[in-house]
Amino acid sequence: MASPSIKLSSGYEMPQVGFGLWKVGNDVASDIVYNAIKAGYRLFDGACDYGNEVECGKGVARAISEGIVKREDLFITSKLWPVFEDGDKVEPACQRSLSDWGLEYFDLYLIHFPGALKYVDPKVRYPPGWHYDGNNGGLIRSSTPMHVTWAAMESLVEKKMARSIGVSNFQAQLIYDMLRYAKIPPAALQIEHHPYLVQQELLNLAKREGIAVTAYSSFGPASFLEFGFKHAEALVPLMKDDLITKIAEKHGRKPSQVLLRWATQRGLAVIPKTSRAEILAENLECTTFDLSEDEIKSISAKDQGLRFNQPSNYFETQDMWIFG
Ligand SMILES: NC(=O)c1ccc[n+]([C@@H]2O[C@H](COP(=O)([O-])OP(=O)(O)OC[C@H]3O[C@@H](n4cnc5c(N)ncnc54)[C@H](OP(=O)(O)O)[C@@H]3O)[C@@H](O)[C@H]2O)c1
Repeated sequence: MASPSIKLSSGYEMPQVGFGLWKVGNDVASDIVYNAIKAGYRLFDGACDYGNEVECGKGVARAISEGIVKREDLFITSKLWPVFEDGDKVEPACQRSLSDWGLEYFDLYLIHFPGALKYVDPKVRYPPGWHYDGNNGGLIRSSTPMHVTWAAMESLVEKKMARSIGVSNFQAQLIYDMLRYAKIPPAALQIEHHPYLVQQELLNLAKREGIAVTAYSSFGPASFLEFGFKHAEALVPLMKDDLITKIAEKHGRKPSQVLLRWATQRGLAVIPKTSRAEILAENLECTTFDLSEDEIKSISAKDQGLRFNQPSNYFETQDMWIFG
């Protein structure tokens, strides 16, 4: 089945349900992407940091060579890692990701996190990760301001390396600042979003400014248990939560589909990741039923402002507060 789509300010359509590629292993990524395309997925959410762009590209190439899809049927996203946010490093970083995928353009290229870090040569380490020395030796910030990075992002559109450009993990004031100088405003914003982190004010801003929002980690703590995050372990898993399971039963659906539908009915795109073939269709079909307004409100009321994906949760640092 085809997913509904969202019209971006760039004029291009973005599928509302896609497939996330974080933590998809190099040994399985090619097959997973190929099978997801066969199952009907058209949007793939990748990033330099995921370290699997070569393998994901092989899955795409196989599906295209077998005539299952054409390149223009797909919507491929990649992301610029912070060590490549200096103005002269943006284009080579995008080019490296394009070459790895075997593509000529990205449908969407996002700045993965705000806040440039000191450049790491891909010959030294790729993907470079957060720490300059590749271990836990500290984060070294670069002095590049966002307007310089954004101008370089805009030139990717001029050079047809990216059809749309956007941001991820940005918050209100930095977005307002960008809108003051952007010649091409960000078409999309990707954020952590689940019932424990609703971010309503940021969503209101995006709606007012015509920025499409994509939710990541839609199942909340589920994605972060493997990192041993105590605040993720302490919570009732959303898929076992009383409210979510009751709503799911009422609609004859899975709790996972209720979580995805809650986000899509609120206008967001979703990009669930699964390594299980049997779950692929289930996630893609999450827009084929409707929750009531009251159900949507009751799920939103679970908000605790609880964020999992921030650098300081993965390692000790006083040098990189993104959501402070
Ligand atoms: N911009 C950013 O900074 C950022 C950060 C995080 C994520 N993302 C993007 O968002 C995507 C999705 O986020 P995520 O990977 O954190 O997590 P997610 O989609 O919330 O998935 C979390 C876990 O839920 C399981 N799962 C998936 N579908 C399920 C279902 N129907 N029923 C039961 N369990 C299910 C998966 O395990 P199994 O594989 O075992 O099924 C997965 O490990 C990422 O892959 C990435 O593309 C972006």
